[in-house]
Amino acid sequence: MDALVLEGISKNFGALAALTNVNMRVQVGEVVGLIGPNGAGKTTLFNIVTGFTKPDRGRVKLFGEDVTGLQPHQIAARGVARTFQIVKPFFGMTVYETVLVGAYLREKDEDNARQRAEVAMKLTGVYHLRNRYARELNTPQLKLVELARSLATQPKLLMLDEIVAGLTPAEVDAMTALVKRIRDEMGVTVLLVEHVMRFVMNISDRVVVLNYGEVIAEGSPSEVSSNLKVIEAYLGGKSGS
Ligand SMILES: Nc1ncnc2c1ncn2[C@@H]1O[C@H](COP(=O)(O)OP(=O)(O)OP(=O)(O)O)[C@@H](O)[C@H]1O
Ligand SMILES: [Mg+2]
Repeated sequence: MDALVLEGISKNFGALAALTNVNMRVQVGEVVGLIGPNGAGKTTLFNIVTGFTKPDRGRVKLFGEDVTGLQPHQIAARGVARTFQIVKPFFGMTVYETVLVGAYLREKDEDNARQRAEVAMKLTGVYHLRNRYARELNTPQLKLVELARSLATQPKLLMLDEIVAGLTPAEVDAMTALVKRIRDEMGVTVLLVEHVMRFVMNISDRVVVLNYGEVIAEGSPSEVSSNLKVIEAYLGGKSGS
């Protein structure tokens, strides 16, 4: 069963072809990494899946349903949660309140929602920050709060846009273990965009490579790492990251 299928997705911004005829699929239970140079179209692809941007051409299918053109709240209702590359914290709210907003997407009962929020905060390691405000947190902490808020919505498909950017290697490894738990213990399918190869290659079942808006390669982490087109377009300068 496919969690996500993209068929012939194209998107132009004026004269710029951000995505050109992108086809890809993510199976239920997979962790798929989406990589590629700056400006390759990765975040645009996330925005199209989550309803923030309309594609010019092509179809988006979620769990067998054509959802092309639906609004972000309609996509969220279908079990898709995402974190943003540039965090947009809810500034007047505490961490707890922020995560609770996520929980209320699916839990109308207050006690259940509070419990969901607490489980998500504990899993992501932000429980000790629950009474702090967004302005008091650094970027890695804000990303963890976003992850907690996303998990509190009880997603079937979790989309992470550069969740480990700015983390130390030890923190990256902790995030690797956390995302594995989210998949293995909660059964969540994961699509992640990332430049940190230590993370992508350790966690992904499959990696898709975008370059100038086109898929140039796809395969296991080792297949993609040794693909000459990928090395030339992207990995050549990134061996240490
Ligand atoms: N709303 C927009 N209007 C105009 N151009 C845009 C818009 N959003 C993205 N672009 C352009 O589309 C291209 C793809 O951008 P996108 O943000 O999807 O890249 P990315 O792969 O996520 O890059 P990065 O790794 O730097 O985050 C870039 O050239 C970008 O400048
Ligand atoms: Mg991006």
